[in-house]
Amino acid sequence: MKFFVDTAEIDAIAELNELGMVDGVTTNPSLILKSGRNILEVTKEICDLVEGPVSAEVVSLKADEMITEGRKLAEIAPNVTVKVPLTWDGLKACKVLSGEGKMVNVTLCFSANQALIAAKAGATFISPFIGRLDDVNLDGMELIADIREIYDNYGFETQILAASIRTVNHVSDAAKIGADVMTAPPAVIRKLAEHPLTDKGLAAFVADWEKTGQTIL
Ligand code: G3P
Repeated sequence: MKFFVDTAEIDAIAELNELGMVDGVTTNPSLILKSGRNILEVTKEICDLVEGPVSAEVVSLKADEMITEGRKLAEIAPNVTVKVPLTWDGLKACKVLSGEGKMVNVTLCFSANQALIAAKAGATFISPFIGRLDDVNLDGMELIADIREIYDNYGFETQILAASIRTVNHVSDAAKIGADVMTAPPAVIRKLAEHPLTDKGLAAFVADWEKTGQTIL
């Protein structure tokens, strides 16, 4: 499973990148707002830091304008992935931009049928939003499983990018189902290493080691 970091915070990306945890980055207008940065500048900085795909989202609602914005974003660096919303205009933009050889991430996916038509429009990535479905008492993970089944039935190459991940269980559940990629905030990725029994066991080892009076170095 590829790990993307869902943030536009350079320091957090750099820290996780040093650990080899960053196969790509996803941003959206809300994350750009949160960063306080200019989208073109921060996207360039992220692309300089990370080798993998870096999603930058268009903001127009009309296909023609999305295409123009997408082309401008794609000029920033070869690893920019143009992110478009799952609307008919977004799908038109996806078809054109992917036809030009650009990577396209179709976002705000909440149903299996939406994922099916995004694949037909040539999406490189489809972003089903797990957490936001769970928020309204639906099952985000069921959607990941449905999309996996449909894509496998027909050999679609569109990668399932599990998004709106809020918990560590979302990560392991999406991995078990076979999502190609997950994108999560830095805090969730950091939590993947944590377990209370690890902390407890380590404390016991440290205490026993002190009693031996030995040193290794
Ligand atoms: O990648 C999409 C993601 O940023 C949405 O997450 O937590 O705002 O639903 P969230």
